[in-house]
Order: sequence, then C-alpha cells, then structure tokens
Amino acid sequence: MTALEKINAPPTHVSGTALYDWDYLVQEDRAHRLIYTDPTIFEAEMTNIFGGTWTYLAHESEIPNANDFITRRLGLRPLIVVRDGEGRIRALYNRCTHRGTTLCRWDKGNAKSFQCPYHGWNFLNTGKLRGVPWPDGYAEDMRDPKYNIAQVPRIESYRGFIFVTLNMDALPLVEHLGPIAKVIDEWLDRNPGGKVVICEANRFRYKGNWKLAYDNSCDGYHVAYSHRSLLETENRFAGENAKGMAYYRNSPDTQPMYMRYTGHGNHFKDKRPNLEKRPGGLWALESAHPGMEHYEAEFIRRYGDRAFSLLDLAGSEPVNINVFPNFSLLGNHIQVFEPVGVEETNAIWYGTMIVDDGSVPADAITDINALRMRTQEGFPNFGEVDDIANFEQIQRGLMALEDEWVYMNRGFGIPDRVKTHADGTITAPATDEAFMREHFKEWKRLMKARPNLAIQREP
Ligand code: FES
Ligand SMILES: [Fe+2]
Repeated sequence: MTALEKINAPPTHVSGTALYDWDYLVQEDRAHRLIYTDPTIFEAEMTNIFGGTWTYLAHESEIPNANDFITRRLGLRPLIVVRDGEGRIRALYNRCTHRGTTLCRWDKGNAKSFQCPYHGWNFLNTGKLRGVPWPDGYAEDMRDPKYNIAQVPRIESYRGFIFVTLNMDALPLVEHLGPIAKVIDEWLDRNPGGKVVICEANRFRYKGNWKLAYDNSCDGYHVAYSHRSLLETENRFAGENAKGMAYYRNSPDTQPMYMRYTGHGNHFKDKRPNLEKRPGGLWALESAHPGMEHYEAEFIRRYGDRAFSLLDLAGSEPVNINVFPNFSLLGNHIQVFEPVGVEETNAIWYGTMIVDDGSVPADAITDINALRMRTQEGFPNFGEVDDIANFEQIQRGLMALEDEWVYMNRGFGIPDRVKTHADGTITAPATDEAFMREHFKEWKRLMKARPNLAIQREP
C-alpha cells in the first residue's frame, strides 16, 4: 500500500475512533490549547488542510514568461511553480525522484530543465525525467513514469491568484471561493485594467502556530491596543484629520465597518464604509510620510481635477480579505502564511504594483507605484511586528498545560448582534470573534474529513 492509499483508506484498526476528539478540542465559543501546540495535530493539518482544501500558492505575475519558475511550499511540501514551455502552470514537487534531494535551490529563475545537484539526474520543466548520468548502470527502463517528478494534480487560478489542492473531491476553485470572489473582484477592479503585479516581499518568521495569524486576520478587537504606538505615530502630525486605522480608537462597533463570513473559512473586514466617498477620500487616510506633499502638489499641477482619484490608486484599500487557510489581501498587499513547524510560521507580505492599460498617464503609473511602495512599507514595518509579538506571546502562554482554553466568544449569545443573511453569509460588528468561530467550523470539518488526496506524474 502506498502512503496515499493508507491516508485515503477508511479506518480499520481503530474502527472509526479518531485519535482526537475534534468536537471537544474546538467548541462553539472556545478552542483547546492543543490545536496550537500538538505536533501530531500539526502533522494531520498538513494533510487535511494544506492538502485537503484549496491553498494559495503564488501569483501569475511572478512567472509571466515561458519557463519562469519560483519555489514555494504547500504545507511542508517543497514545490517548484513553473510555467512550462507551452505556457501551462504546474506545481512540481521540489524533490528529486532518485534519493529525494531538493532539486531546485533557487527562489526564482527561468529554466527549461532542472538538474539535481546530487547525482545529476536531469528533469524537463514538465516534470519528465530527461536523462541520468551513465544510464547503462541501470537494468531498469529509466523511462518508467515513476521517475518523473510528482506534481500537484489540481491547480487553478482566480484572476491571477494561483491556488492548489491535492484533494480530487474538492469543489472547483470558484465554487469554493463563493461570495469572497466578488470581494476579490472589487479589490482588483479599482486598479487600471483590473490588475496588479507582484513586487518583492517583506518576509517575517515568528515562533508560533500558523493559525494564530489566521485568527488575527479579521480581528478588529486588538487594533486600538496592540497597534497603539502605530496609531499615535500615524496621527502625530495629522491634526483634525484622522489617519490610518484611527476609526478603531473610539467605540469601533458603532462605526459603519463590519465583518462578513462568506463560507469555507473565508471572511473579510470591510472598512470601506468608513471612508468619505469623494476623489481623494482614500488618499486622505494615508499616514504622513516624507515626500507626500511634494507628490500631491505635483499631481495637482500635472493632472488638475484628476489628481486625487489618481492618488487614491496609491492609497491602501481599507479591507482585509481572508481566504482560509493561508491568504489575505489587505491594503495593497498580499499576505501569505506558511507553516514551518507546529510552533513556527512565515508571514510574507508581497507588495503590488499597478500596470499600464492606457487609462492612466504613463508617468503617473511610475509615481503611483513609488507611492504604493512607501504606503506598503508602513504596516509591515510598524504594525505586523505588533501582531507577531502577540502570536509569539500566545504560543508561550499556551505552554501552561493546565489552563486549557482560548475563548473566541466575543459577540456570541447576544441576540441580533450576529446576523445570518439569505445568501448564508454572516455579518457582525468589527470587534466580534464571529469570524473565528466560523473558520474553526471549517477547520473542524476538514480535520474530520477523509480527503481523497492524489499526486500525478507525466506518463
Ligand atoms: S538524488 Fe537527485 S540525482 Fe541522486
Ligand atoms: Fe494587527
């Protein structure tokens, strides 16, 4: 029996008794510390979550040309994401089929084939074994498909965002995304041509479980406390005009912003209703940074009435869109969570640029992208560090064995506070933990499921 057959087989020895009681570990209003600290649960997540459901991998703009590649991971599986010579995007296991060495040691590049650094086996970027040194040393036919690189069987893009799963029974990607797809559309469609391309990234690694980041992705409760120094910095020279996340300062639940859960673990925090609906409304919220006034004056000189709607293209879109388990769009960033171990996670912030589609003056594009770079430096440098400090301190707190539970019951049990709508989506005030209670239902569903996992190889 192969490992996959064993994973996919119905339980036999334990006759249906799961090793863990998921209903006990995750209850409606609380979660057990073990789900953040237990290595066996983490290993099960690498199969049932990062394998059993759609996971974000990369953006198409990172591999625009034939034979471009980048290296990424699906859970702990190392992958090469490549656009082959025919333009087809593939996710190859970055693992030599000979003795298992990491095949490609580069982060990105352009290559028609990959040569293993250990004994020199050479693979085409379709995954097919092209040749081995001194083949007369093998009695076997080396054209056997078992020597071709394993690849992820399902890979689909939604408007440039590449997702993968090993689960042959998972819904098609757009059905899986459901209502969150429309929110992703809105995030994209404010940009010229409805497009962005990825720039380089701010990379963080923290000593804590990956779920701590996802649990925080829609959390409006912590902002005024955890990010207090950033709020004060942003508003120091702002006078009357509140900047950045200032709408969290006083009674955030009475503000028009809200959270919405859209199913399959996905949710978003919508702060757009807080904005003034006028050209420059978004730009007005951007916190002060050197050179800003100069750009603003120059835009007014060059583009007159149009200046402020162009400057809005540099402003950070006030929405956090979260696709379970590892993907967030926030401001102008794409944030990706990568589990490294049960107590270690990468949190990567990819910046985005706008592209020329003819609708915006070409010199404005360059300046808007320069401004976007500045605004994108803000939160990752001064805000993400606050969040990461929390994640590490939670992990430390959860080492206390006897104190078992974390609570996610804010807003729970208050009549009419959390609303379920006709389309099945759920809304709640900005500081509620409804999003977390809901994504944990999806987590539990996946942990209980027996996903139909597969890999494939070129014939
Ligand atoms: S491990 Fe790759 S050629 Fe030997
Ligand atoms: Fe935060």
